Amino acid sequence: MAHEKTLIIIKPDALQRNLLGEIINRFERKGLKIVGLKMMAIDDLKIEEHYSHHKDKPFFESIKKYMQSSPVVAMVLAGKNAVSATRLIVGPTKGYEADAGSIRGDFSMSNQCNIIHSSESPEIAETEIYRFFNEDELFEYKKIDFELIYSEDERII
Ligand code: PPS
Repeated sequence: MAHEKTLIIIKPDALQRNLLGEIINRFERKGLKIVGLKMMAIDDLKIEEHYSHHKDKPFFESIKKYMQSSPVVAMVLAGKNAVSATRLIVGPTKGYEADAGSIRGDFSMSNQCNIIHSSESPEIAETEIYRFFNEDELFEYKKIDFELIYSEDERII
């Protein structure tokens, strides 16, 4: 059995504001393991799939334009309860409502320009990971700090 995985998309506003290193650093410090990482342009099809639940909303065209305004950085993080642990670090959707200390709480004032996307549940994460990554872009490896981050019974690769 492997640790849970989640998908992160670091959005165009974060790249433009030079926040890439800051964001990756927060996940690394927490102890989440990076098992996939790439810069990519999101095409129309992937945007439509990813935001299909918002396709009929008035803001859909605006999300599309924004998400295609520059490349994004997609990451897959693995760890115990990775989905919920990551969402706590990210904060709620609306930046202006997010607690200080979370990524959105520290860097966003917006509903749309909210720096980062993170999967909502382990089931959704599974679909989202394979939407953006091919199997050969995901890595399994042992981290040498693993024994400091997890107890013996929590260590699954
Ligand atoms: S909701 O309100 O429950 O549907 O919100 P949620 O599914 O969590 O996320 C909404 C995503 O759409 C982006 N977005 C907006 N949401 C609401 N209103 C406006 N105007 C809007 N514009 C963009 C929002 O940033 C969420 O993106 P992700 O990538 O999921 O964080």
